[in-house]
Amino acid sequence: MAKKRNPHIEVRNTEPRDFPAIAEMSRRVYPDDEPWTHEQLASHRRVFPEGQLVAVDTRTDEVVGMAASLIIQWDDYNLYHNYQELTGNYLFTNHNPRGRTLYGAEVMTHPKRRGEGIGKLIYRARRDLARRLRLRRIRAGARLRNYSVYSHLLSPEAYVDRVVRGEIIDPTLTFQLRNGFRVLYIVREYLDDDRPSMGYAAVVEWINHKVARRKDYAGRDQRFARPLPPKKAAATSPRSG
Ligand SMILES: CC(C)(COP(=O)(O)OP(=O)(O)OC[C@H]1O[C@@H](n2cnc3c(N)ncnc32)[C@H](O)[C@@H]1OP(=O)(O)O)[C@@H](O)C(=O)NCCC(=O)NCCS
Repeated sequence: MAKKRNPHIEVRNTEPRDFPAIAEMSRRVYPDDEPWTHEQLASHRRVFPEGQLVAVDTRTDEVVGMAASLIIQWDDYNLYHNYQELTGNYLFTNHNPRGRTLYGAEVMTHPKRRGEGIGKLIYRARRDLARRLRLRRIRAGARLRNYSVYSHLLSPEAYVDRVVRGEIIDPTLTFQLRNGFRVLYIVREYLDDDRPSMGYAAVVEWINHKVARRKDYAGRDQRFARPLPPKKAAATSPRSG
């Protein structure tokens, strides 16, 4: 990953004028999927405007990254709820301001602007939001982007274990781990038609230590609880994204 930290990036709340750029960016990031629609993005803003973020290059006013979040009451959901259910059919209509969990439904950086620290800045803004709203945690589903490359050799658990050890790079999970997240558990059929991950995702969590209680740390699968090793020890495996 290049280390050109970019001082010209501002992260702010998403506005309707950003929708075309977000839709276009999601078309490039997920060429096989439906891009985010204006209707969906407007619904996200309607239910939870503070949770919708864009990263903008202040020199050109271009949208170079985005994140979409909602608040949920995690206890309303279980291991078998998939992405569509956790996002209220992609509209965030299940947003519950009384919940204590910020659910990270989407984060992306424009493919031409990867490795500049933009994703990191977006995540910093997300953590600031969680702290401001005194939420206990951020959770997200990190789809296991490189799993299909290893599925003939490794179970999803063994794959995640190797990613957590820094022995395999997964473009999504490694990014989340570098942003202070830890793996809680692995889910199947999270994104049904996602071929690279074969539908598998790791539910990852960042805890807001200021407000979390002891029992909030208890749900982590101890097999995956360790932090990533320093970068130089890591991995020879394929990498994309
Ligand atoms: C994941 C994604 C948002 C990262 O964005 P980015 O702006 O390139 O990330 P950054 O430059 O801020 O990198 C932040 C950290 O993650 C690491 N990282 C980012 N992408 C990585 C990759 N492909 N492989 C390994 N590590 C990666 C960086 O090395 C950096 O580590 P550091 O903090 O120790 O320096 C971007 O690759 C993307 O849009 N991917 C497609 C969409 C996606 O999968 N989103 C997640 C949905 S669950």
